Amino acid sequence: MCGIVGAVANRDITPVLIDGLKRLEYRGYDSAGLAVIGSAHELDLRRSVGRVANLEKISNNVNGHLGVAHTRWATHGKPAENNAHPHTSSHQVAVVHNGIIENHHELRTQQKALGFPFRSETDTEVIVHQIDWHMQQGHDLLNAVKATVCELHGAYGLGVVSKHEPGVLIAARSGSPLLIGFGDNENFIASDMSALIPVSQKYTVLEDGDIAKITVNSVNIFDAQGKEVERKVNISTLSDDETELEGYAHFMKKEIHEQTRAITETLEGRLGSDSVLELPFGDSAREIFDRTKELKIIACGTSYYSASVARYWFEEFGIKCDVEIASEYRYRKHVVNDGTLFMTISQSGETLDTMAALEMAKTLGYSNTLCVCNVPESSLVRASDLTIFTHAGREIGVASTKAFTTQLVTLLMIAICLRRRMLGDGREVDTLEKDVVKELRSLPQQIENVLDLEEDIISMSKHFGNKENALFLGRGAHFPIAMEGALKLKEISYIHAEAYAAGELKHGPLALIDEDMPVVAVAPNDELLEKLKSNLEEVRARGGKLFVFADVESGLESDAETMVLNVAPVNNYIAPILYVVPLQLLAYHVALIKGTDIDKPRNLAKSVTVE
Ligand code: F6R
Repeated sequence: MCGIVGAVANRDITPVLIDGLKRLEYRGYDSAGLAVIGSAHELDLRRSVGRVANLEKISNNVNGHLGVAHTRWATHGKPAENNAHPHTSSHQVAVVHNGIIENHHELRTQQKALGFPFRSETDTEVIVHQIDWHMQQGHDLLNAVKATVCELHGAYGLGVVSKHEPGVLIAARSGSPLLIGFGDNENFIASDMSALIPVSQKYTVLEDGDIAKITVNSVNIFDAQGKEVERKVNISTLSDDETELEGYAHFMKKEIHEQTRAITETLEGRLGSDSVLELPFGDSAREIFDRTKELKIIACGTSYYSASVARYWFEEFGIKCDVEIASEYRYRKHVVNDGTLFMTISQSGETLDTMAALEMAKTLGYSNTLCVCNVPESSLVRASDLTIFTHAGREIGVASTKAFTTQLVTLLMIAICLRRRMLGDGREVDTLEKDVVKELRSLPQQIENVLDLEEDIISMSKHFGNKENALFLGRGAHFPIAMEGALKLKEISYIHAEAYAAGELKHGPLALIDEDMPVVAVAPNDELLEKLKSNLEEVRARGGKLFVFADVESGLESDAETMVLNVAPVNNYIAPILYVVPLQLLAYHVALIKGTDIDKPRNLAKSVTVE
């Protein structure tokens, strides 16, 4: 999704802006641009469609000590140079913007009447004209931005410069993340701290309503009431190591293979000899878990599927659990029972729909809010009573992989903690908990074993290269795993893929089965295996081709119509975490055959900060 970088320094900042944009590329974008105020106080604007490398080529003669830059993910207006940010007004003011301005039609009409020419189809252009207009009324840049944001409805993270104030960078935020990075006689802004890794370790996150005036040696922040405020200064722990491919062709492949290490980190310090420890989840965890009688979990995309798997665990342990997509939850009425814990799950911690759902939930009487998240200091983390981090490490590939499996591991540990309360206080750790803990410890090695299937999965992937559709089947907790497998395949290979609970086949989708419809099935050796086998027979009887990931003990064998890849026997609770890995690899290798842009699939963004 859109990214912002800005800088004010005593050196040429164009390389800092370009480098920052490259570091934000993983978020997904379709065009990029920068505006730099040069030594003659002229505003130099460069924009291009496609990669930041294109922008770099046309910016090699741009120099200056102040500037803003942007990667755009189109919402209003197609990806095109004139729609790319920065937007300018009278060639005096330049603005970069993340978010959506809802009253842009209204403002556009007023500004057209005042004679402002419009060059783009974006909602952002009204912001820059409005600032320009306020400056024409005699305001300095800071006060012009203050006046403008009062007139905006919607979400914004803004970076603003004007050639009339060549040492001043203005930042403003409401509903869209923005931070200030401190340097030595230079300061920066960014929508994500990873943009600033080489230039700044100290940073402050702006709060909603904040506006900051930033120069080389000063930062003044004003809150929504205009009062000057101090915001907490943090030290970033991000490093470049996490943003290197380390010999892998794609971040997605690297991240699939990192799952062994990532899960080890997720478990680190949270398991006792045969139990899940609660203290490492935070001081308030015990109290919050004690209050919890039931759960409401809200998330989007892959994070929603991890919640959907976890629902099977929670309910098996006697904890009522309802799971819902954030964008739906936001727009309906709710009945909240006493003692319901509101849980959000998010890799980025910045997903706008999830964030909006959390804000709404806080008004509805939930007992507490808990966030399962991968990114420290993200918006969801700040807004929740408690966060349990997944510790997946930085995920750059747009298609989530290690974020998903580490979410599942975290959720299983939470489920075990809540299960204890359902069973009653003062009990000894029982066999089930001991077994789950043992299996969790062995999970990194078990994932390593599944990764060893990669050569077979490459052979399997060749059957998908010329297909346009695929069906994924699973039952029980493996139904959401099938959904996650289908999502992975569709988002990176662009093959239309759908997932069904296998028992639903006969209620409609069976009509789709023929030799051109590969059917992928997840078949662990659980209590639903015999039912699943019957469903697979229904596919075979109609000439369908089956690709099955099965437990060695499932008794399923390859033949002319069926390709079976065996996974070592595993405890039922852990099985979903393991069975998603071959599906991730399958999607990756099919996408490789298709030649798609695997780490940055078309139209998608890593962090979805718009509605
Ligand atoms: C798919 C994927 C998305 C995200 C979704 C939520 O591979 O990554 O579906 O899961 O956009 O994002 P987070 O987890 O950051 O809230």
